[in-house]
Amino acid sequence: MPSTLPEGDPAPSDGALPPSAADGLGTRPFSLYLHVPFCQTRCGYCDFNTYTSDELGPGATRTSYVDTALAELRLARRVLGDVELPLETIFIGGGTPTLLPPADLGRLVSAAADEFGLVARAEVTTEANPESVDARSLDALRASGFTRISLGMQSAAPHVLRTLDRQHTPGRPELCVAWARAAGFDHVSLDLIYGTPGESDHDWRASLEAAIGAGPDHVSAYALIVEPGTRLAGQVARGELAAPDDDALADRYLVADDLLSAAGLDWYEVSNWALDDDARCRHNLGYWRGADWWGIGPGAHSHVGGTRWWNVKHPAAYAQRLAAGQSPAHGREVLDDEARHAERVLLELRLADGIPLDVLGPTAMPAAARLVTDGLLDSVAFDDGRAVLTLRGRLLADGVVRGLLP
Ligand SMILES: C[S@@+](CC[C@H](N)C(=O)[O-])C[C@H]1O[C@@H](n2cnc3c(N)ncnc32)[C@H](O)[C@@H]1O
Ligand code: SF4
Repeated sequence: MPSTLPEGDPAPSDGALPPSAADGLGTRPFSLYLHVPFCQTRCGYCDFNTYTSDELGPGATRTSYVDTALAELRLARRVLGDVELPLETIFIGGGTPTLLPPADLGRLVSAAADEFGLVARAEVTTEANPESVDARSLDALRASGFTRISLGMQSAAPHVLRTLDRQHTPGRPELCVAWARAAGFDHVSLDLIYGTPGESDHDWRASLEAAIGAGPDHVSAYALIVEPGTRLAGQVARGELAAPDDDALADRYLVADDLLSAAGLDWYEVSNWALDDDARCRHNLGYWRGADWWGIGPGAHSHVGGTRWWNVKHPAAYAQRLAAGQSPAHGREVLDDEARHAERVLLELRLADGIPLDVLGPTAMPAAARLVTDGLLDSVAFDDGRAVLTLRGRLLADGVVRGLLP
């Protein structure tokens, strides 16, 4: 089941933001995230806010969802006033957005463009499960304005896909990449997961080779996280499946970086590799660099000018709020300077561009110098005034961040 939300402060029912959020609005990049909270079946490892038909219950349906989300889009425009906010990026994520017909996803994109406008060469992404798209639907998505597609491949090994409860057959993600290319998508990304119980070194290499062979211009590779409350967590607790081993995960990461960089895909964030600057996910870069975004949908998070808020989680509660003309926000927090600094270090240090040393501040310099000596921060970048993780530093990124915070 999906995990619970933080509490935070109560959010006003009209969705109004504190005055501090309006400071500088329109001078920072602005993006839209749209959450589609539906999946055909639930993968045993996943605790994202998503519902199968059986889990959904009354009060919300897939067919009514787009109109409900459009009500929040209009609320967003009202709350943000008449400041010009052309969208840098739109990202439709899930759940499984491609369970909705392409025409529905197209309606979301065109309504967002009508309300806010789009910058020239805006990035418009949808996530997709390989079994839920085909050549025709990809053509239709491209025609409705999507420029980028992110496909959940996870693995090429049949037994790994089975352990993960994935519904597609090996080979299908590669076909989807070819169809997406033929449809004219500018950018195609594949998601992989490593460290699944029963996955061998050979399985992982074969998955990377299959992904690279398909010709995406972007790959994300995530270590399998055993999320509390998931079916996977139960299987691990009962000893039916082995928990991912830290040393094996580190080895898998090194193999991933080796094979991906040999294929011309360079890391630009600890878990993300791209063929060139153009292929980097601009939407996610916005998250990592503290841009403004409005998250539409049940459980979606937003961030505008240091105020963060999150929506009610269940699709029925979400629909009910909007039908009553109220904001679906459940709680919010205004970040103080200390929290903003910690967040900036945590997110920007994971980027290949790193973080300027003057942002870390003089008190962090002795620790930063020690991290260079320990081989976790790059010495050349350090001499140029930036903290940038080395390959070993990427394996220990969380510890490096802890070392640099007061
Ligand atoms: C939540 S999914 C949404 C997109 C789509 N439904 C899919 O499965 O590809 C986005 C990515 O998060 C990954 N993910 C979800 N839970 C994870 C976990 N516990 N550990 C690692 N990756 C996870 C998914 O496998 C997928 O690649
Ligand atoms: S398909 Fe994606 S969002 Fe749905 S349960 Fe599986 S990992 Fe989670």
